[in-house]
Amino acid sequence: MIIMARSSRLNIWQYITAILLILVLGFHLAERIPGLSPLGVESYEESLEAHKVETAYNKYSIILSILLITALFHGLNGLRGILLEYRQTSNWTLLVNIIIIVLFLGFLAFGFRTIYIHIASP
Ligand code: HEM
Repeated sequence: MIIMARSSRLNIWQYITAILLILVLGFHLAERIPGLSPLGVESYEESLEAHKVETAYNKYSIILSILLITALFHGLNGLRGILLEYRQTSNWTLLVNIIIIVLFLGFLAFGFRTIYIHIASP
């Protein structure tokens, strides 16, 4: 049952998302670095200019989507682990699981909406 997911299985996903984050977050931060950036920027500030950001959203929407999913899962699952260590009752576990799932789905929808808006109007 998803609300009471086995912690050992979630732990494996914590490791998988950690490895994925090294790759996609590495790429995302490299976007800002002159010489490394796939956007061909000459300064950090240039990587934050509107036309470069639009280009990033349109060319790298898949990478940004993977970053969104992995960073959200990794961060929220990490927070879940801390909260479950704090108190060990089944009511508390259920409450934490529900809050974490609601936050995950809410932020996921909001993040995908931002990505989709940029792709739809390049
Ligand atoms: C120096 C630090 C950072 C800067 C300046 C920065 C800047 C940006 C910019 C300008 C975008 C728009 C798309 C693009 O240009 O690629 C973006 C999108 C995004 N960033 Fe970052 N970022 C930073 C760090 C991070 C970190 C640490 C994470 C996650 C752990 C992250 C996650 C994301 C995600 C998921 C998106 C897509 C979100 C969406 O549109 O829904 N970023 N960031």
